Amino acid sequence: MNQKPQLPPMPNDSQFKQALGLGIGIWDYMEKNQRELGKTFTLKLPGQGPMVWTAHQDVIRDVLKLREDQYDASLVQLPVDVGENNTVFLNDKEHQDSRKLLIPSFTTNLLKGRAGVMQEIVTEAINKMKVGDKINFPRWVGDVTLDIICYTLLGLRFGERKERYKQVMLAWLLEATSDTNFTLGSAMGARRYRMFLHRLYLKQTARGKMGNGKKGLLPWKRAVDLKVQLANLLREDIRAIRARNDESEGHVLSLIARARYENGELMPEERVISEAVGLLIAGHETSAATAAWFMVWMQQKPQVYKKIREEVLDSIQHEGKLDAVKISELPYLTACLNESQRVTPSAVGFIRWLREDTQLGHLFLPAGTAILPNIYLTQRDPEIFGPDANDYRPERWLEAGRRFGPSEFLPFGGGRRACVGMNQGRQQLRIIFAELARRVEFTSEFQNTKKLPRSRMIGGQTEPEKGVWLTVKEVRPVSYGLVQLAQTA
Ligand code: HEM
Repeated sequence: MNQKPQLPPMPNDSQFKQALGLGIGIWDYMEKNQRELGKTFTLKLPGQGPMVWTAHQDVIRDVLKLREDQYDASLVQLPVDVGENNTVFLNDKEHQDSRKLLIPSFTTNLLKGRAGVMQEIVTEAINKMKVGDKINFPRWVGDVTLDIICYTLLGLRFGERKERYKQVMLAWLLEATSDTNFTLGSAMGARRYRMFLHRLYLKQTARGKMGNGKKGLLPWKRAVDLKVQLANLLREDIRAIRARNDESEGHVLSLIARARYENGELMPEERVISEAVGLLIAGHETSAATAAWFMVWMQQKPQVYKKIREEVLDSIQHEGKLDAVKISELPYLTACLNESQRVTPSAVGFIRWLREDTQLGHLFLPAGTAILPNIYLTQRDPEIFGPDANDYRPERWLEAGRRFGPSEFLPFGGGRRACVGMNQGRQQLRIIFAELARRVEFTSEFQNTKKLPRSRMIGGQTEPEKGVWLTVKEVRPVSYGLVQLAQTA
């Protein structure tokens, strides 16, 4: 007899309550469902098909092996208009071809070449801090990473055009990922909503109308105006890049605007715009949210922050200078970031919509099901990480013989759709943390506490519910560690 596909158990909660559970306190909701139903369970949100969340290793390993033709990425529930032909929504060969054009923008050599400027940008931001200042850390990191993206994506470091880009990018990011737009997206269906936004964007672009993007407009109108303005800036730059065709240019927009498919054709202009805004959105809130949790841990464990500082100072002594590439590769700092991304990942899961009935480990799931490897529960699983799986203990990454596999530690997703910007994302965060640990001391409500703040979704990422407000206690001079070097020489 043929086996029938089947869905794993579902909580008794109404669909509305399930949606609420995912929106507010998503980690608690995951833990509650795991306690009541086990490592794999099904959730059903209003107007959507079944979503199977799993922390079973046999299932996750098979999800990571899925072929492109087994799932449909166009169904990804993102209510933001990044263009329907963006890499995230593409399937099969089109998706692979598109990734092939993006990946060369993030090679190790290019990243090493960008490290020095990343460190300069972080230095400038720290130099502006004064004792007593209060900063909401995820927003501060968001601002620093926007400066970094202006340089890595657009090749812009200073000047009016950079400031204009930064202003429009920030306004669009905030509007496109606002609670209002995400709520409208859930009510209408995220895919329908983003297609609606995209149609408005195309119409307005065809009419050549920039819109005023002012507050007080309908929320979607403001998001569309800002996208039109951002796309217009990008269009001007893409045309200029193609006209000069300068092969020595290493910024991402130039690399993708000049890249050619196997058949020798350039990417259509609208596709380049779509990829550029896609990279912007993919890297922004993810980095801010990851940094937010990291800083909560640093406040709770000042001895760890101090140890990072000592590691950075040792590197300066050893290299005879502050080498941005070296500080972005420090082993203890890397372990601290890994550990933060393990216990408090910014993405709770990643999704594949199955096109056909599919066997994944011990599960046989019906076509149309969305399967989500549960990053949060997997990375806190005592069967993988031991009895102290819930504790923040960076040393576990440095212990001899400890290696965690791609189905066990997966904050950047995995398989054929794993995050394209992982190395850039990690490099910029390590430079930010290394420089902060070297130069700045903070106080906050989290200092020496033991309990994590509740999480909430911001732009699809989990962040501490009320932000991470820090008060600047001490800012050491930019030469800190370098002066000591001169004295000991
Ligand atoms: C700490 C920062 C970041 C985190 C936690 C993160 C996490 C993720 C996750 C979970 C996915 C889904 C992977 C999957 O479905 O298997 C993803 C996809 C992606 N990310 Fe990131 N990301 C980060 C930074 C970045 C940056 C800086 C960029 C680009 C500059 C980027 C570009 C992308 C792209 C293009 C995809 C889609 C890949 C595809 O569909 O083939 N990400 N990221």
